[in-house]
Amino acid sequence: MRLAVNIDHIATLRNARNEGDPDPVEAALLAERSGAAGIVCHLREDRRHIRDNDLERVRAAITTKLDLEMAMTAEMQSVAIRTKPELVTLVPEKREELTTEGGFAIKAHYAALVEFVKPIRDNGILVSMFVEPEQEAISLSKQAGADMVELHTGPYSLCTGEAELERELERIRNAARFARSEGLAVVAGHGLSVRNIAPFREIREIEEVSIGHAIIARAAFIGLPAAIAEILDLIRR
Ligand code: PXP
Repeated sequence: MRLAVNIDHIATLRNARNEGDPDPVEAALLAERSGAAGIVCHLREDRRHIRDNDLERVRAAITTKLDLEMAMTAEMQSVAIRTKPELVTLVPEKREELTTEGGFAIKAHYAALVEFVKPIRDNGILVSMFVEPEQEAISLSKQAGADMVELHTGPYSLCTGEAELERELERIRNAARFARSEGLAVVAGHGLSVRNIAPFREIREIEEVSIGHAIIARAAFIGLPAAIAEILDLIRR
């Protein structure tokens, strides 16, 4: 199972002083040297963490793969086509939210989504959709032209009791199996950390996990290479 590291919060910290440090590009390169198979950046409409210039510099510097998380807007479509990440992950975005809340509402946006995805794929960029672990959203993602789905693990990460945790994990397992049977590649992400990642090693259909906040938070205490190593130790099959 591969690990993709989201470096948004290196930019959050840099923006606290609005000077140069810490540099998201340096973080991306260090993450790659520490075993990350890809770098994830979410260019938000309000540019609260990653900024356009960060994205361009990360694109130019990294040698693994770039996953650009973005909302379904005309502006982001142009950014994607110009930047040419290997992968675009479509996420819902609300200005006031602290982080992405919930999977993309595929059904509600289906017609627009089909139009939106086509030019991105025509430019050789793979498309993933961040969805709830539910069959309908997965089927519609496939029909809309997605190559991949990222299953939303936020609710799983918030579970407290054993029964609730197992129920949510089963939902993720079933969704991963279904997505593979539809011919989609499967990623999982949101709220994953050393505390809750272990069961994912056994879900064979999930080929990558995307982790940001927990790794960057832990890196503040033990350093980025060690924070990445902790996760890799838990997901290596
Ligand atoms: N995947 C998606 C689609 C996200 O929006 C985020 C948050 O930016 C993540 C993964 C990473 O979540 P976390 O920062 O909780 O690890």
